[in-house]
Amino acid sequence: MNQVEKKLLLDLATKHGTPIFVIDHDKLRANFREFREKLPEVQPYFAIKANSHPEIVKTMFDLGASFDVASMPEFMVVHENIKNLPDQERQDFIWDKIIYANTIKPVETLKELNPYKPLVTFDNPSELEKIKEHAPDAGLVLRIRVPNTGSMVELSSKFGAHPGEAVDLITQATNLGLGVEGISFHVGSQCNNFDNYMQALNFASSIFKEAELRKYPIGFKCKDGSREKVLDIGGGFPVKYTPDVKSFTVLAKKINSEIKRLFKKDNIQVIAEPGRFMVATACTLVVKIIGKAVRDGKTCYYLNDGVYHTFSGQVFDHQHYPLRAFKEAPTAVCATFGPTCDAFDTISLADELPDNLEIHDLLYAENIGAYSHASATYFNGFPPAKVVHVNKGR
Ligand SMILES: Cc1ncc(COP(=O)(O)O)c(C=O)c1O
Repeated sequence: MNQVEKKLLLDLATKHGTPIFVIDHDKLRANFREFREKLPEVQPYFAIKANSHPEIVKTMFDLGASFDVASMPEFMVVHENIKNLPDQERQDFIWDKIIYANTIKPVETLKELNPYKPLVTFDNPSELEKIKEHAPDAGLVLRIRVPNTGSMVELSSKFGAHPGEAVDLITQATNLGLGVEGISFHVGSQCNNFDNYMQALNFASSIFKEAELRKYPIGFKCKDGSREKVLDIGGGFPVKYTPDVKSFTVLAKKINSEIKRLFKKDNIQVIAEPGRFMVATACTLVVKIIGKAVRDGKTCYYLNDGVYHTFSGQVFDHQHYPLRAFKEAPTAVCATFGPTCDAFDTISLADELPDNLEIHDLLYAENIGAYSHASATYFNGFPPAKVVHVNKGR
């Protein structure tokens, strides 16, 4: 981070106090544009679970993003941006640009969703029965289980139909009078093994072919009688938190050429559900040292944000967000703790920080935008960090 950026963070901390979670909307725009530029045939449905702050959703909306939502409240955060559109335009937006990509939906949610007629994912027979009864107007996308090897966050043990069962599920849906528009998968979040995507694309291609052969074609019926299928390649696009993370540019090239090779005869609309990729690098946390002790010869800093708050991503997302000091001085191995009365609230036992920092000094952590503030709690009465925006509304 350069001196100008540091000065901006210090000024924001003076103005707003700490902890502050600073969202840079220019960086959100840059991430969105990079995704579009490198995967030009893929429509990004921003997975708002990574960070559902309404201002982030608004910036994505203004950029022309589509959205992946995981619950009714998330759906309503997106809906806020379209509620004043004329009825038909609003309905077209929901059908064309929102996917409810949680394969398990409570009956209450299905009932609430049905009038909006969105696309929803499913991966098992009993979900199909529920959809038939409570949301028969929804469009369906079948989520399949694909390898998640080498991804930081594994999802395949919880979601996805076995590819071998896929066509039976499509048959079952068709027999229930429901239309299956396409296939989705998720290779696991922060995927550093690009073979996962390649294998998943091959599974999807085989399923499209087999469904065609068995005369249970997938896709939306166009006026000319042909069908347009949805191929949803999910999330997982890796963020370069550390130098060993593989390049998104390389991944994008592989995905583009594999899609071209496998689906050249299909009339498909390819979509993706990037979450982390859009928000991780767009946010920086500024925290204050509220206590200092030396334990067993190691300097320990107590901060006003921790593992129950913005650093919750350490637990749920398996990420680390190294803390840096604004003051320049030689560093030593220090421990950093959050503000609660729980020893689990340990941010790191090995942060490289100057050991001569004082109470009230500030620290910052970069690339902390995904799955962090989104999972912060009020544990011990400490509220989540205040959100501050920069470069909003251009
Ligand atoms: C269904 C679904 N789609 C998209 C995402 C976003 O994934 P990522 O943040 O890795 O892009 C997730 C993350 O858990 C997910 O479960």
